[in-house]
Amino acid sequence: DWVMVNYIDEAVARIREQVGDDEVILGLSGGVDSSVAAALVHQAIGDRLTCVFVDHGLLRLDEARMVMEMFADRLHVKVLAIDASEAFLGELAGVSDPELKRKIIGREFVEVFTREAGRLEQAKWLAQGTIYPDVIESGGAKTKKATTIKSHHNVGGLPETLGLKLLEPLRELFKDEVRELGVALGLPHDMVYRHPFPGPGLGVRILGEVKREYADLLRRADAIFIEELRNTIDPVSNKSWYELTSQAFAVFLPVKSVGVMGDGRTYEYVVALRAVQTSDFMTADWAELPYALLKTVSSRIINEVRGINRVTYDVSSKPPATIEWE
Ligand code: XMP
Repeated sequence: DWVMVNYIDEAVARIREQVGDDEVILGLSGGVDSSVAAALVHQAIGDRLTCVFVDHGLLRLDEARMVMEMFADRLHVKVLAIDASEAFLGELAGVSDPELKRKIIGREFVEVFTREAGRLEQAKWLAQGTIYPDVIESGGAKTKKATTIKSHHNVGGLPETLGLKLLEPLRELFKDEVRELGVALGLPHDMVYRHPFPGPGLGVRILGEVKREYADLLRRADAIFIEELRNTIDPVSNKSWYELTSQAFAVFLPVKSVGVMGDGRTYEYVVALRAVQTSDFMTADWAELPYALLKTVSSRIINEVRGINRVTYDVSSKPPATIEWE
């Protein structure tokens, strides 16, 4: 589409003019905004962009591998992948308060990123996937309620501590424009139309204390749920249930319940499935997923993920419930 091609040309020219011969770093999360920003900045300055991808141990199944495959292997973007899971999970040990978990994850992220960025001494710029709604939200701080219900630091707050200049090439774009841009830049449709994923990741989807064992179980259950949502097409709309929901995921409940398997009794953990439909994430309805889909997901999780013997479906709307469980 010509409008988009022109837009890319202009954006590329602007980035080149702005950064000159300087080097740029960008925190790649695997989310839509940072991915599109990375693809765009890479188109403009190629190897003078270095992306830093921090694995906090609370990512979805295969996330790190998929990001590396997409950016490093296919697009030939320089990506530094940092496995910081030991550090994050270590700091989180024994902590069960949701807001404290968010704070720890945010703080640890800044620490790891700052250290890695410090090694890239030539870098003068920090590129970020800030989009127009983010700009309004932070600029409109005056009108925002003093008490936020949940702190939403999207693992950000970096520039001041780093002493880098800010490059925000998506600042004028709405989410749907960012997606179109991503497709035009050659990113796969599935990546660009992904559901949102919170910065603290599985850290707020494992209720209470976070443990690697729990994260490993949750990742596998969640991947099964998402796979089935993507593969189940609603015959009326001809869309997949992944497309028909705004956000869907599994939540780990650290309680054990009794089950039977073969001749034996099991005593294992519970997973809750959450799927919502919403236009703005401020209010949301639980999605009326087909029973057949829920049935497949449930039996696959229980059969394939040893350690989970019960699956429940969350039928709470927002408000009064929130989308995430923490
Ligand atoms: P709630 O649970 O408040 O979620 O209904 C609304 C939207 O915000 C996302 N969310 C977060 N995103 N850091 C983020 O980057 C966070 O700490 C966080 N908490 C919630 C949530 O996934 C949903 O899309």
